[in-house]
Amino acid sequence: MKIAVYPGSFDPITYGHLDVVSRAAAVFDLVVFAVLVNPQKSAPVFPTEERVKVIREAIDECCPTDIAARIEVESFDGLTVDFCRRRGATFVVRGLRAISDFESEMQMAHTNRKLAPEVDAVFFMTALEHSYLSSSLVKEIAAFGGDVSQMVPPSVASRLAGRSRGL
Ligand code: PNS
Repeated sequence: MKIAVYPGSFDPITYGHLDVVSRAAAVFDLVVFAVLVNPQKSAPVFPTEERVKVIREAIDECCPTDIAARIEVESFDGLTVDFCRRRGATFVVRGLRAISDFESEMQMAHTNRKLAPEVDAVFFMTALEHSYLSSSLVKEIAAFGGDVSQMVPPSVASRLAGRSRGL
């Protein structure tokens, strides 16, 4: 059984993430969506458990049933490679939107392989129509009352709208 981990902050999940995970689930037997508990970038807008819940909802809402059945969602703390070992995963999936993503992704892939040579990195080019998307931009737009309905699933858009004043 080929198991892949798709790690990230996912604060919040966007259509770009859903594109990557659904394409990965067409390749691997199981993809574990791994939500980092404490992203270093900034304090998360959505607490970990809410991110996990929202991602599960988004997958069930947006992915075909056979694809959704091959995706699990979990939170994790610590190293991605340790989480991979716990889950028996030998692949880490990441999305590449543009050349600007490449440098940091290459650095992470090489570092992870140094730490765990049995875990390899697999990259999916984010679909062109989603390649401009980022969770940070989505949060900023929502904070100013902008329309993010083409960027995130409905359950995420409504949650963001509900808390945009607090951002
Ligand atoms: O969505 P993000 O913030 O780009 O995801 C980054 C993430 C979670 C993949 C990366 O920060 C990570 O793997 N963090 C866990 C700690 C770890 O393993 N650090 C070493 C990575 S080389």
